Amino acid sequence: MNKLLEKHPRSKESLLDILHELQDADPRRYVSDDALRAVAEYVNVPLSEVVSTATFYSMYSRSPRGRHIVRICESPPCHLAGATNLLAVLMKQLGVKAGGTTADGAFTLETTSCLGLCAEAPAMMIDERTYGSLTPERLATVIADVRRNDAAK
Ligand code: FES
Repeated sequence: MNKLLEKHPRSKESLLDILHELQDADPRRYVSDDALRAVAEYVNVPLSEVVSTATFYSMYSRSPRGRHIVRICESPPCHLAGATNLLAVLMKQLGVKAGGTTADGAFTLETTSCLGLCAEAPAMMIDERTYGSLTPERLATVIADVRRNDAAK
């Protein structure tokens, strides 16, 4: 963790970037209590402020998550294009509710606001990759592809 911290200036302005990197570096894709304490000490900001920041922004998770984060867009254009149905399909397919992680630790299902793919609504993101013009069939294919890629590693 120290190596990661030392890549950043010891200033409050680094806080969001550091939290982002620590979350990405954690195998459970979240910001742990230890990480928060280390960041607070490094940038010399009260721990309560670092905790507030990590809690305020939805891009940070305070709970351990799966290896892949599936985010389905719930903003109006995607909602009107059937995102609610797709979320239901995903919940059934993965066996979890929104916010949940699959028993095998492979996926955490989340909802999100606009991903910038409104012209291809409904849309979702898995990790850093976006998918638009989704249908229930395409969802199944995408999830199966991610599982297949994991198995091949
Ligand atoms: S509203 Fe869903 S990607 Fe913009």
